[in-house]
Amino acid sequence: MNKLLTPYSKGSLQLKNHLVMAPMTRSRAIDNLPNELMAAYYAQRNGAGLIITEGTAPSLNALGYARIPGIFSKEQTNAWKAITAAAHAGGSKIFLQLMHTGRIGHPANLPADAHLVGPSTIKANGEIWTDTLGNQAYPTPHPLTDKEIETVIAEHVVAARNAIEAGFDGVELHGANGYLSEQFLNPHVNNRTDQWGGSIANRTQFPIKTLQQIAAAIGPDKVGVRFSPYSTLGDLTPYDEQEVHETYSLLSKELDKIGIAYLHIGVSATIPQKTFDAIKEGFKNTIILCNGLTPATAEEALSAGFADLVAFGRSFLANPDLDKRIETGSDLNQPDYTTLYTPGPKGYTDYPTL
Ligand SMILES: Cc1cc2nc3c(=O)[nH]c(=O)nc-3n(C[C@H](O)[C@H](O)[C@H](O)COP(=O)(O)O)c2cc1C
Repeated sequence: MNKLLTPYSKGSLQLKNHLVMAPMTRSRAIDNLPNELMAAYYAQRNGAGLIITEGTAPSLNALGYARIPGIFSKEQTNAWKAITAAAHAGGSKIFLQLMHTGRIGHPANLPADAHLVGPSTIKANGEIWTDTLGNQAYPTPHPLTDKEIETVIAEHVVAARNAIEAGFDGVELHGANGYLSEQFLNPHVNNRTDQWGGSIANRTQFPIKTLQQIAAAIGPDKVGVRFSPYSTLGDLTPYDEQEVHETYSLLSKELDKIGIAYLHIGVSATIPQKTFDAIKEGFKNTIILCNGLTPATAEEALSAGFADLVAFGRSFLANPDLDKRIETGSDLNQPDYTTLYTPGPKGYTDYPTL
């Protein structure tokens, strides 16, 4: 019997299996509103013990990508209810991923009264897709003032409360892949000299304070966070290995003190064993491991001791019945990379089941 498909219980997290659907931006939310098509997509994948939604904006300034959903308005909050109901109907738990894109974005994707923001005025190299102007270079972000950072955190808290109202079992802060939270962690993107920059203790303040305040508002058992140690996604320049190591050691201990439900590690770069060990040593609650897993390697990861749960991204995207395929040892469909972010049902809700 696969451990993957057996129930999981630790602290407040009670899941029908060890299988997690990883957060994936799919850009089907026209006008940043969840819709019926998205509800159908998540309903198809409710074989997962835990579904983590696509990155969702906690505020106007967080809408850096085209057609990503928000959770800051009443209309958005209500529109998510069909999705949480669809997940729960299959016995899945569902967490909403709070994603503030920070400097990764473009005014053409943002509403008229929104601004591209970041810890500093350091822009990302590269280009981003916009529906109106095609690919565009990343502009220089507005550096958040101290007061504006407090506002951003407060917006995350309101968004988390909205998520609970919408029926979510909790929220995951997107602290990975080069978005706002990780922009604060990286000394090449965050060159602030106030309490949000400089030392490791200061650079980790943004995720720590955000998670503390969200936990105080909705309960720590309803809060998770995703990190991608050593990753360079979002044009993050690598920094000193020992500093990265200390950053995630410190975060693990601090988040353990808050008592959040889980820590989700996306392995998108080589992570030294000592950093895995420090994370496990510091954080006692659930650890989710993601990236590049197959049913076989996921099963091995569950036995090896670091991961309590395993998440699948592309395999869940292309295989709505991933749980059944794992159970029967069936082949997996491959994802169609041309329809990852295109509007409409093609490459979204039309992947075949067994
Ligand atoms: C289309 C697509 C969109 C993604 N969007 C997000 C996202 O919104 N938030 C996030 O944390 N990771 C995102 N990811 C990363 C996935 O969660 C996952 O880490 C990655 O796909 C590697 O896992 P896999 O090898 O199982 O696919 C995305 C990945 C894909 C393929």
